[in-house]
Amino acid sequence: MSSLDDQARAIIRGNDRGGYTLPTRGLYPYQWNWDSAFAAWGFATFDNPRAWDELDTLMASQWDTGMVPHIIFHTPDPGYFPGPEIWRTGQTPPTSGITQPPVAATMARLVWEMDPEAGHDRMAALYPKLLAWHRWWHEVRCTHGPAAITHPWESGRDNCPDWDIGMAGVNGADAGPYERRDTGHVDPEMRPTKEDYDRYITMVNFGRNAGWDQAQVVADGPFLMADPGITFMLLRADEDLAVMGRALGHDVTELEGWAKALRDALPLIWNEELGAYDARDLRTGQFANVLGSGAFLAYLADAGNPTLDAQLMRVWDSVSYGIPSADPEAAIFNPRKYWRGPTWPVLNALLAVGLRDSGRTDLAERLRAETESLIRQHGFYEYFDPNDATPCGGADFTWTAAIWLTWAGQGAEADAVRGAA
Ligand code: DGY
Repeated sequence: MSSLDDQARAIIRGNDRGGYTLPTRGLYPYQWNWDSAFAAWGFATFDNPRAWDELDTLMASQWDTGMVPHIIFHTPDPGYFPGPEIWRTGQTPPTSGITQPPVAATMARLVWEMDPEAGHDRMAALYPKLLAWHRWWHEVRCTHGPAAITHPWESGRDNCPDWDIGMAGVNGADAGPYERRDTGHVDPEMRPTKEDYDRYITMVNFGRNAGWDQAQVVADGPFLMADPGITFMLLRADEDLAVMGRALGHDVTELEGWAKALRDALPLIWNEELGAYDARDLRTGQFANVLGSGAFLAYLADAGNPTLDAQLMRVWDSVSYGIPSADPEAAIFNPRKYWRGPTWPVLNALLAVGLRDSGRTDLAERLRAETESLIRQHGFYEYFDPNDATPCGGADFTWTAAIWLTWAGQGAEADAVRGAA
């Protein structure tokens, strides 16, 4: 049997379509924005130039507005819905009309630090594009303070309970006839419901009918919520981009201003009653009143506090493997349903980066060891049941393989264990 490192590299190579990497075959047959950023981090452990290629391909599909779309439809694939004929964004290659968590700058910094000399010119070329994407986030999506999303898919945490109050206001009855493809690839019980999908498609239809005009989608669209997860990922990515900008000799005053404004806005997503950061409907001001994994991404941006620490330990100690995507004590908790309970290796990795950077190495190591155990028991799945480690969603997942190579498989005993594998 090959070592898990070899298997992880084989998965990434197997999902490589030449310049971009699929998240997994079948379920996600195109290039996804934040998946690609993690793929770059994974590639950097064995093929540094290919890591930069991945980021270049992603940013090559940036819109003139600065937005970087969440899916790039390089090659038609009837196995995915909703495909380019539904989005109709007029881009070449075709893309979706929404974005995804801006982790690319954070991943670019990690990649660059793994080989500073080789990465210098690659990062220099990427810098203005990443800066333009961050400008888009701040000028278009942070007008209320925290980062706002116009579709749950933008959060990357599609059906997490954070969005339930916003979803309730979307009338899915007019979604029209369509045929889902995701449930043909994996167990439907692990995927969002039909009611969710009717609303997702209604939101896509609104954007398309608005010609993907952001002003209209933000002002009048069916869904507008503050996302704690993206707020923290953007804040961290602003700071990472500023570090790289300084190293490249740029004036980073604009980036510093964005990061400060975002940090100053954090009290707007602190729900005192819940005792945690929380998603918020920006049309009504109403909090979601649920504790989700987005709140814990505060640690990625060094925005934790003692109350959140207590919540983290309560939630974490009530399962066996990693951070669950929803509160196990909440009524909606479902340990196998996508973002409503399962633990996600990729989110655990982001949290651990933050915990490590703030000196909490004991917690970072616990998270790594629990994530390692999941992958060692069952392989490179999309996500897992945090109670009994049941593997869920897609298999042979690029970002799970990537975080194995960069983080989860990097324990003190990694070499000894690898030798035995
Ligand atoms: C899907 O199709 O499930 C994706 O998460 C949407 O981006």
